Amino acid sequence: MKQTKVIAFSSQKGGAGKTTLTQLVATYLFSQQVKVLVIDADFPQHSFSRSRQRDLLPSITSADLLASMAELGIVPYPIEIMTMDDLIRVLPHIRTSTNLDVIFLDLPGTLNVDNFALLAKQIDQVVIPFELEFKSFVAGMDTIDFYQLHNSAMPISAIWTKLKTPHKIKVKEKLEAAIKEKGIYVFESVLREAGSSIAEQISTIFPLKNVAQPIVDELMNKAPNHAVINSIHTATQPVP
Ligand SMILES: Nc1ncnc2c1ncn2[C@@H]1O[C@H](COP(=O)(O)OP(=O)(O)OP(=O)(O)O)[C@@H](O)[C@H]1O
Ligand SMILES: [Mg+2]
Repeated sequence: MKQTKVIAFSSQKGGAGKTTLTQLVATYLFSQQVKVLVIDADFPQHSFSRSRQRDLLPSITSADLLASMAELGIVPYPIEIMTMDDLIRVLPHIRTSTNLDVIFLDLPGTLNVDNFALLAKQIDQVVIPFELEFKSFVAGMDTIDFYQLHNSAMPISAIWTKLKTPHKIKVKEKLEAAIKEKGIYVFESVLREAGSSIAEQISTIFPLKNVAQPIVDELMNKAPNHAVINSIHTATQPVP
């Protein structure tokens, strides 16, 4: 039986880029024929689901285009809203009763939620977004400790987000060394600061290939424990 992999971009730091990264990566993988489900457990803001609602507005995606996609059998990947309790209960069932390749969890920006520790045990890979500033660094390091405590076997990696050009290279190197000291893989690809335009560009329907592809390639082929889904084809293909 095919194994479904559960991946979460997760951090204690609100606004670090969890939802943005999940959208980028999930939408690109889906465009590469990977069977994707996103579970939005970020009560009450549910920003992932809201992004899909926005993407389906006629002012964002023309009704004709959506109709043509439907005719071609191109249906955007599903997004399920769930409470944390439901998620913990149904995740094992979803894994075994579907033929999904990857389930992405869009989680709250705090680990101080009932049962988060139980959920941690069900995640296969966590990627922690770090902004290059002190608060984000501390929150990211706390997040590493949390996952190492509650799921010690799980591969954890870190990715720089909202990285400004130019940025303090020496500071970045120092912080990165501290992250690596915890045994954490740090992505070479980064999510650059893109001003407010990023929210308009990133879609749950149409992939942003240039930004997403390096991150996806690294997630699949370089970050630890890619083996489970290494059969997934992530080569460049035309997108709708
Ligand atoms: N690389 C970027 N450049 C500029 N703005 C960004 C970038 N990444 C994310 N943002 C913006 O920062 C805000 C927070 O991003 P996002 O919602 O992805 O963070 P989050 O970690 O999911 O936050 P929360 O903890 O509230 O769920 C959003 O308005 C988003 O559009
Ligand atoms: Mg979010």
